[in-house]
Amino acid sequence: MKLQTSTARLSLVPTRLQHSAIFRTGGILCAQPSRHSSLSTLLSTKRNHTTSTHVGQKSSWTHPVYTKEQILAVRTAHRKAYTWQDRAALGTVRLLRWGMDFVSGYNSRPANTNTLSKAYVMTEEKWITRFVFLESVAGVPGMVAGMLRHLKSIRRMRRDNGWIETLLEEAYNERMHLLTFLKLAEPGPAMRFMVLGAQWVFFSGFSLAYLISPQICHRFVGYLEEEAVITYSKAIRDLEDGHLPAWEGLQAPEMAIKYWQMPEGQRCMRSLLLYVRADEAKHRDVNHTLGNLDQNTDPNPFAAKVRAQVQSVAGSTGGLRQLEENSRKGT
Ligand SMILES: [Fe+2]
Ligand SMILES: [Fe+2]
Repeated sequence: MKLQTSTARLSLVPTRLQHSAIFRTGGILCAQPSRHSSLSTLLSTKRNHTTSTHVGQKSSWTHPVYTKEQILAVRTAHRKAYTWQDRAALGTVRLLRWGMDFVSGYNSRPANTNTLSKAYVMTEEKWITRFVFLESVAGVPGMVAGMLRHLKSIRRMRRDNGWIETLLEEAYNERMHLLTFLKLAEPGPAMRFMVLGAQWVFFSGFSLAYLISPQICHRFVGYLEEEAVITYSKAIRDLEDGHLPAWEGLQAPEMAIKYWQMPEGQRCMRSLLLYVRADEAKHRDVNHTLGNLDQNTDPNPFAAKVRAQVQSVAGSTGGLRQLEENSRKGT
């Protein structure tokens, strides 16, 4: 199998690349427009359907505002697998990750590694292809888990302890990631077919698994989100190292600026990736927390009603450390 052809088969066509006055403000997070801006212009084609939204209006799930310090403080992290359930979840994630990397011709080594074959060098198009496919899959678990808990609550005629809200919000957030990246590229028929197939398989498999063991499923999502943070960290590093020139002068899509409420000076592509990575770190910590809890009786510590009482648990990497502590204690 020729790995390098897979991206072409998925055929995402870069679309609207914007250049904004934001760069004149010299924002700390944003790269300045570069000599490569003309390359960006070459790639511009208008996408004018399917993802237009009105996120300026208040949504039920208005995104909390991240500070610059918060998005820069996000780090990759790994929760050790302590039980056979943890190992099953981690093993499944690693198997899926290996399969995805193999099919898409992705290599996690830095782009400037001398030994890296050209076929493995991640271009802007390859990154967007990867983001679109992964985000289309990432939107499934929260919706499935929320839906099944909703049905269980109705069926058993009792309250859900506040889990549904967080799970559906996570699914919404993942869909916003996808819609944002779709502003930058147009999926071809092969990609649409792959997303369709992956959704059918993943939705069916995850639904069945959640009915059997929701605890393992939340652990699985926690490990999956660890991988997402690693992936976005590598994309950010590639951008910072100058390997993605078409993104250096690129402004985040308007819907992303509104959704994350990105302030002036933090609206470039690097900032967008930092915001998305911060979301993935939150999903990681939330799902590892939910995986530590009794699925039937424990309240959701991230529910709006009790969030204020658990601030110490809800952080980023700090939250993960707390989760490890709790996990060792069996809480
Ligand atoms: Fe995501
Ligand atoms: Fe995520």
